[in-house]
Amino acid sequence: MPRFLRAAKAQARPARLTPMPFPQQRPRRLRQSPALRQMVRETSLAPSDFIAPLFVEMGANIRKPIASLPGQFRFSPDTAASHARELWEVGVLSVMLFGIPDHKDETGAHAADADGPVPLAARAIKEAVPEMVVVVDVCACEYTTHGHCGVLRGETVDNDATLPILSDAAIAYARAGCDIVAPSDMMDGRVAAIRAGLDGAGFINVPIMSYAAKFAGAFYGPFREAADSAPSFGDRRSYQMDIANGREAMREMTLDIEEGADLLMVKPALFCLDLLSQARQKFDVPLCAYHVSSEYAMIKAAAERGWIDETRLIDETLISIKRAGADLIVTYHALEWARWRRDGIV
Ligand code: PBG
Repeated sequence: MPRFLRAAKAQARPARLTPMPFPQQRPRRLRQSPALRQMVRETSLAPSDFIAPLFVEMGANIRKPIASLPGQFRFSPDTAASHARELWEVGVLSVMLFGIPDHKDETGAHAADADGPVPLAARAIKEAVPEMVVVVDVCACEYTTHGHCGVLRGETVDNDATLPILSDAAIAYARAGCDIVAPSDMMDGRVAAIRAGLDGAGFINVPIMSYAAKFAGAFYGPFREAADSAPSFGDRRSYQMDIANGREAMREMTLDIEEGADLLMVKPALFCLDLLSQARQKFDVPLCAYHVSSEYAMIKAAAERGWIDETRLIDETLISIKRAGADLIVTYHALEWARWRRDGIV
């Protein structure tokens, strides 16, 4: 009989005093009641951890369901503002805007239109909920006819020719009252270019949240349908990163901090939990994870089929992203989770 079994048997007979407790370590001791489990919980979630993505187009009174993202909508500036108020009322402090413009061109220059969907929505949200933190995604892909994230030279995206467009867009958004600009294009040097542009225009206090480690892949399909931003040819592999590369992700983040990024983003979240954890050890700036459209769509599709317990799985997914090291999570689940918390369901 193994030693530990003998010890257990001995312990089971109280009359015989044994010096050999079995086992010494019983992690289950701290799992015995809901209150005890709550007390030793290492990670907590709150609505203030979330940034809710919002898609905005021109017009009024629009609230179009997005087929690829059940429960998500395309808004006009006015309805975006009322939606932002609903988020604020359940404790979500921040939204991230994506514009779907009326006009596209070869270069994406309309991203900087002062009366485009993003500036209009930002103004409307700020009027409705002045304290809401309005983050805006800065990228050309929704504004280019070809759907790539910058200016084309032949079939490739010209890095340096794209930088002024991003910088001009960031300035236009700051001028409209956006609180944080979040470049997602993956051009080299764009954080420095945007910082210089913002500072030159007097917006020294507008922080940059850089999508520092953003990977190319099938992760963003539902988003591209929602935002009408799929590339018309090729893919984004010459600018977004290869999902196989973790060291390169750390290098991208280091560079972005050197260029002046105030917050770092890792995207997609669930496929990069290891990188979130490494980045948490390595960098001191706030770390954000983008829980992307495909991650949301997979959960919604499985839930529709009745294959998963949707509420619990969403809660467990978000807590895992937080545990890995994210301070903030951009997630399409923000509103529903915050309501579940309000109602005591999670
Ligand atoms: C714009 C951008 C994309 C996403 C965020 N910003 C699409 C892309 O890079 O193709 C994806 C977000 C998601 O999938 O939820 N460049």
